[in-house]
Amino acid sequence: MSAEREKKLAAEAAAQLPEHGMRVGLGTGSTVYYLLPALAHRELDLCCVSTSPATEHAARELGMRVESFSGTEALPELDMAIDGADQVAPSGWLVKGGGAAHTREKAVAAAADRFVVIVSSNKLVERLVPPVPLELMDFGLAATLARLGTVELRDVSRSPEGGVIADFTGDLDDPAELAARLSATVGVVEHGLFPPQIVSDVFVARGRDVEHIALADPRERLASELPVG
Ligand code: 5RP
Repeated sequence: MSAEREKKLAAEAAAQLPEHGMRVGLGTGSTVYYLLPALAHRELDLCCVSTSPATEHAARELGMRVESFSGTEALPELDMAIDGADQVAPSGWLVKGGGAAHTREKAVAAAADRFVVIVSSNKLVERLVPPVPLELMDFGLAATLARLGTVELRDVSRSPEGGVIADFTGDLDDPAELAARLSATVGVVEHGLFPPQIVSDVFVARGRDVEHIALADPRERLASELPVG
């Protein structure tokens, strides 16, 4: 079973979660592109926000209602957000941002009551490894890069907010320590390490099966609950 097929299965399973009238955050990436038609097919009255212009365009093409998530008049909270990931560790830590959308993805995930991650089995890893995607301010960029040390600029467009996309390539032995350090570095807009506390569900497809791992109370969760793919 190919990873593409597994992405589709995981996405289609998660597409069954939203209910009529919900406010739903839509992630970014190839797994989310399988989510969108499955969600549109259900013809629910959803109010969606998008984590990227690409997802917004694709969702609108499918007839979905997508509202802005910018400014003081936007939705203050979401019922659910559904998104892919680049790596999922047994501890529940994620690396996201392979598609450079991690800043908006984190803002949407943090606003959601339930953050659902959809992945193929190859995304489950024994331990997270670099690179960790970064979004950096252009102003002071050289100084930020010097502070961070091991960073490679990515040859992609800037974020919708004008941020410079880069990857941290240094040690990733302790995700919590690195996340705290990156968050505390002036000039880092956001990084792609997502803590277990904001993840509520993981849908992982293995072959023809989709496993639903519910992480309702991360504080009580055992590190062994997430199996490695
Ligand atoms: C985009 C992301 C994606 O969710 C992540 O890169 C996974 O992508 P895909 O579903 O294409 O494998 O974080 O910024």
